[in-house]
Amino acid sequence: MAKTQQIPVPWRRPRRLRGSETIRSMVRETVLTPADFIYPLFVTEHEGVRKEISSMPGQYQLSLDYFVEELHAAAALGIKSCILFGIPKHKDPDGQVSLQANGIVQKAIAAAKNAVPGMLVMTDVCMCEYTDHGHCGPVVAGDVDNDTTLSLIAAQAVSHAKAGADLVAPSGMMDGMVGAIRSALDGEGFEKLPIMSYAVKYASSFYGPFREAAESAPQFGDRRSYQMDAANSREAMIEAALDVDEGADILMVKPAMAFMDIIAKVKDNFDLPVASYNVSGEYSMVKAAAAKGWIDEESTMMEILTGLKRAGSDMILTYFAKDAARVLGG
Ligand code: PBG
Repeated sequence: MAKTQQIPVPWRRPRRLRGSETIRSMVRETVLTPADFIYPLFVTEHEGVRKEISSMPGQYQLSLDYFVEELHAAAALGIKSCILFGIPKHKDPDGQVSLQANGIVQKAIAAAKNAVPGMLVMTDVCMCEYTDHGHCGPVVAGDVDNDTTLSLIAAQAVSHAKAGADLVAPSGMMDGMVGAIRSALDGEGFEKLPIMSYAVKYASSFYGPFREAAESAPQFGDRRSYQMDAANSREAMIEAALDVDEGADILMVKPAMAFMDIIAKVKDNFDLPVASYNVSGEYSMVKAAAAKGWIDEESTMMEILTGLKRAGSDMILTYFAKDAARVLGG
């Protein structure tokens, strides 16, 4: 006669701590708050505009008046920080309009600080929204010229600082960009202004919807000669280390969801705060699948944001900022 197999009774039972929402909330390791979010906003120089971006439902190109309204709405939900992207009326090969004191971002900074003084106003520092070819700096022999771009983005950062920005965030992946901006800011008396570097930014298909939003799609070629190859992890450590040496105050990893290993690695290897950018395509995928009834939008959104924080993000740039703050009871 066959012996009855004795199934051992488990002594350790992790399920004991999952029995109710109360106990789950007591052992929860990662808790989101609205203060974790940085809300990206697209400000257009055209007037009377509140145009929904078709590939990013719920996100808009906003003229200054509507932009201010949106800031009030975000602040009312407990959001404490935003990052601005400008959409100018006119573009040129060098993106000169991005340096003007009365440029759209410069005006938006002033309007924001005036309307919601407590809001931390960050600006994206890059040329791609202002060049007629859509690349992140002047193109020489078919490629973005690194060192000419440095002086342009340094001047752009200074003009944002003069307009009242609280922090500048260079996103162009030019070699030496953080150092160039740091010394330009210091030279103009802005030594206290922090720099959040898009330190580890990959060439990514997830930026597609953003380029519609910011009208910044490259008119030829792609960004692979300056943004990183998605296959590389060790190279991310070089990029982050350079930016630390050049004076970055916060390191960003972008995109976020397909790069959580990189977020964790940057967090483990450097002692600066880490930001991650939950980019446009990551937002659009959730919106599109939810619209089809394939996933639950709210719980998916919260799972993604919690995951990004768990992976090591001290702050998250996300188009979900308002929606998530609402869920969190803001
Ligand atoms: C500008 C910039 C981009 C994004 C942020 N800053 C676009 C790009 O590099 O092509 C993407 C943000 C998003 O997809 O949400 N250089």
